[in-house]
Amino acid sequence: MKTTILFLAGLFILNFLPSCVSSVEKEEPSEKKIQELISKMTLDEKLGQMSQFDPFQFGNEENMKQAVRDGKVGSILNLVGAKKTNEIQKIAVEESRLGIPVIIGRDVIHGYRTIMPIPLGMAASWNSELTKKAMAVAAEEAASEGIHWTFAPMIDISRDPRWGRIAESCGEDTYLTSVMAEAMVKGFQGDDLSNPKTIAACAKHYVGYGAAEGGRDYNTTNIPEVLLRNDYLPPFKAAKDAGVATFMSAFNDLNGVPTSGNEFTLKQILRNEWGFNGMVVSDWSSITEMIQHGYAADKKEAALKALKAGVDMEMASNSYVENVQVLLDEGKIDRTTIDRYVANILRIKFELGLFDHPFTPEDAAEKTILSEKNMAVAKEAASESFVLLQNKNEILPLSKDISSVAVIGPLADAPHDQMGTWVFDGKKENSVTPLTALKQKLGPEKVHFAKGLEISRTKSTEGFSEAIKAAQKSDAVLLFLGEEAILSGEAHCLANLNLQGAQNELLDVIAATGKPVVLVVMAGRQLTIGSALEKAHAVLYAWAPGTMGGPAIADMLFGDTAPSGKLPVTFLKTVGQIPLYYNHTNTGRPATYGQWTDINKIPAEAVQHSLGNTSHYLDAGFEPLFPFGFGLTYTTFNYSELQLSSKTMGIDGSIMVSVTLQNTGRREASEVVQLYIRDRAGSVTRPVKQLKGFKKVSLKPGEKQKIDIPLNAKDLSFYNGTAYVVEPGDFDVWMGTSSASGLHGEFSIN
Ligand code: GLC
Repeated sequence: MKTTILFLAGLFILNFLPSCVSSVEKEEPSEKKIQELISKMTLDEKLGQMSQFDPFQFGNEENMKQAVRDGKVGSILNLVGAKKTNEIQKIAVEESRLGIPVIIGRDVIHGYRTIMPIPLGMAASWNSELTKKAMAVAAEEAASEGIHWTFAPMIDISRDPRWGRIAESCGEDTYLTSVMAEAMVKGFQGDDLSNPKTIAACAKHYVGYGAAEGGRDYNTTNIPEVLLRNDYLPPFKAAKDAGVATFMSAFNDLNGVPTSGNEFTLKQILRNEWGFNGMVVSDWSSITEMIQHGYAADKKEAALKALKAGVDMEMASNSYVENVQVLLDEGKIDRTTIDRYVANILRIKFELGLFDHPFTPEDAAEKTILSEKNMAVAKEAASESFVLLQNKNEILPLSKDISSVAVIGPLADAPHDQMGTWVFDGKKENSVTPLTALKQKLGPEKVHFAKGLEISRTKSTEGFSEAIKAAQKSDAVLLFLGEEAILSGEAHCLANLNLQGAQNELLDVIAATGKPVVLVVMAGRQLTIGSALEKAHAVLYAWAPGTMGGPAIADMLFGDTAPSGKLPVTFLKTVGQIPLYYNHTNTGRPATYGQWTDINKIPAEAVQHSLGNTSHYLDAGFEPLFPFGFGLTYTTFNYSELQLSSKTMGIDGSIMVSVTLQNTGRREASEVVQLYIRDRAGSVTRPVKQLKGFKKVSLKPGEKQKIDIPLNAKDLSFYNGTAYVVEPGDFDVWMGTSSASGLHGEFSIN
């Protein structure tokens, strides 16, 4: 008996002691500790915490070290490498008066050294678990090099592909972006920010930045509150609910008020309505840019407006450092405001464990960077990001017994460009390109390579003859076209979305050889590739696939994997259709099928109202090239038996929507079953369709599965200009393979 009791006691201690010890060891950052620290700080030290600078802004390293020593720097961005960050951190914690550690920030947007697909590609995977895994890899690699904080996820709703930063977004849809926002935040932050393998995330750019007029970066945004609350804010709320540590205010002025000085969004919504108690950092000099906006007469007024709105930390400009003392003296701000902002900053540092563990082990990087595990995640993420847009005569997958292939195009062997935009630490020598991967898979003797064009913008056709020869001596052509990494991203906006340079001409001459053409497009956005569809047999959209893009593409083209991506954005016939997105409102005269799509078929002297007075273009109709949610694979899926657990629900009720999915083809593959609804009539006009749920499932040939997606009335709430409401009424529901098709049902809220 005695032995048993001792054994049980021992078991108890072994099981529970660690958590008790860890809760003592890892004491939560008590507000008391934060307030004690603030009570000791001078104003200069407080303003130091509220300032973030890039190393180059100090002029030289000694100045940076002295500024840290003097307690004038709370955060440094773009300082990487454990050796360097530890050196600065040592000064902060051992030589500054109060020993407050600095927080190191960096744009780790879609990978650190192991580069994942661009976020638009990650969104195309519709796989939140994989996205979370990919961001966790990015966090571990970045943390191993001394980075504590990433300025990601970027969750701006993006409905204009002329805007270069659409590449960095999760696309046009509020629900998908919200799901991805949560996954990315949890990937970066894990469930314990003090874990040395996690980093603080940053929900950006708050808010409305993607609605830049004309798709020109930094441009004005005018977003009515109904649209702002229903379409642009929810992903940021999802990030906040996921526990994101920080927000970043944006560059754009929103309805006349720059978002870095906007009390309505930063105070009323973020703090008062959502109860966010993390830290807000400005974008790069976005506070002083309020002068250029014409919203502040000078740096003093810019500082005042940012402080009144609630920007805790100023990035890369010094309006706070230069003006807060005067603003305090003039009584325009009070010390409690400054102390509250400093507390927000210190809280993040405590949560990151920087006071207890300020240094990065200098051997951490070698254990994680570019590890086999990380590269496998990058390959999986790339594979699931690809969207198969066309596959005539099921030309794909190709047989590995093929005698030879021609690998042609400026993106076939472009290790830098395949990583895409917003890559600061990824190195092209680590990229595995499609050419390399195809040679490895088939044997170099089976691969005939010819670039055809040096880069995507090359206009000279001098490389065409070599490309034609390569095609002529091959059984099939794998043609890699698209855009270089530099053509998307911040400030990289385009007025023309056609393939750049002589790429369309290269496709023409290759198609003229009569060989089967598989077109792979690598780009940071949806391009207007309509003319390519007639010339290529298959089209695979690979976005910017990252370090392991090559092996992922090779595996897919030869059937080791099957495409499973779905479009996170609407593809256009022409740039003139912008803005064109699936979840639009209906207008009073919606276009219907059969509207004019070919201007040349309009009869001469046609009678004025003979063409149908509806919302469409005479020269482009009203339909997209490919709809949101579209994507093919190497098998076929059949949807049947749409069922609703009830045809009605109360305003706080829910129903289960089910459909039977069957793989009716010959290959195992994944399908993203999508659930859309339509609120037929509301107190404000409602979108013709809204994504409200999805499930990605893999089925073997012949396999059937019942897919259940719950629909809660609260998910159908919207802001109607006065309040968030769930309104009784009739609804349509669809479950299907894209936003343009699906089995239809209906239900009511009563
Ligand atoms: C840039 C971007 C922002 C980025 C920041 C720091 O201008 O707008 O997304 O995080 O500056 O690099």
